[in-house]
Amino acid sequence: MKFFIDTANIDQIKEANDLGVLDGVTTNPSLMAKEGISGEDNIKAHYVKICNIVDGDVSAEVIATDFEGMVREGEILAALHPNIVVKVPVTKDGIKAIKYFSSKGIKTNCTLVFSPGQALLAAKAGATYVSPFIGRLDDIASDGVELIYQIVDLYSTYGYETQVLAASIRHTQHIIQCAEAGADVSTCPLDAILGLLKHPLTDLGLEKFLSDYRKLNP
Ligand code: G3P
Repeated sequence: MKFFIDTANIDQIKEANDLGVLDGVTTNPSLMAKEGISGEDNIKAHYVKICNIVDGDVSAEVIATDFEGMVREGEILAALHPNIVVKVPVTKDGIKAIKYFSSKGIKTNCTLVFSPGQALLAAKAGATYVSPFIGRLDDIASDGVELIYQIVDLYSTYGYETQVLAASIRHTQHIIQCAEAGADVSTCPLDAILGLLKHPLTDLGLEKFLSDYRKLNP
């Protein structure tokens, strides 16, 4: 499973990248706003900055909601760097735009996916990635991880090449559950990735190894 980080924060992207296990980055307009990035030129410069840190796909979301606008914006974003993936919402115009981008060889990430039917349309349109939002489903007492199982199963039945990118991951256990469900990618907050390292027996074991060493090597 590939690990993406779900943030537009440069320090966090650098920290995750320094671990050596980062495969890409996802952003969205809310995450960009959280970092105070505004204005077309600043937004574009920020995406390029991210692409220059991480050697992997970087999702950049369109703001337009109509087909022509999405195509116009997506082509500008895709031209910024070869690793840019144009992120498009799963609407009627969004699916048309994904089909268009896929015919032009532009990578896409179909976002705001909450059902197997939406994921099916994304795959048929040729999306590179589909982003089911598992945390937001959990928030409304639905089962986000179950959606990952359903989409993975559906894509395997029909041999779709669209990669399942589990999004809206809120904690470490979500990452494990998505890996078990067969997600191709998990996009996670930094804390959730670092949580994978934590185990009290690791800390205790290391402490013991070091104290035993120090006994004979004062
Ligand atoms: O990048 C999209 C997604 O991961 C958003 O997550 O936590 O806002 O539901 P969240």
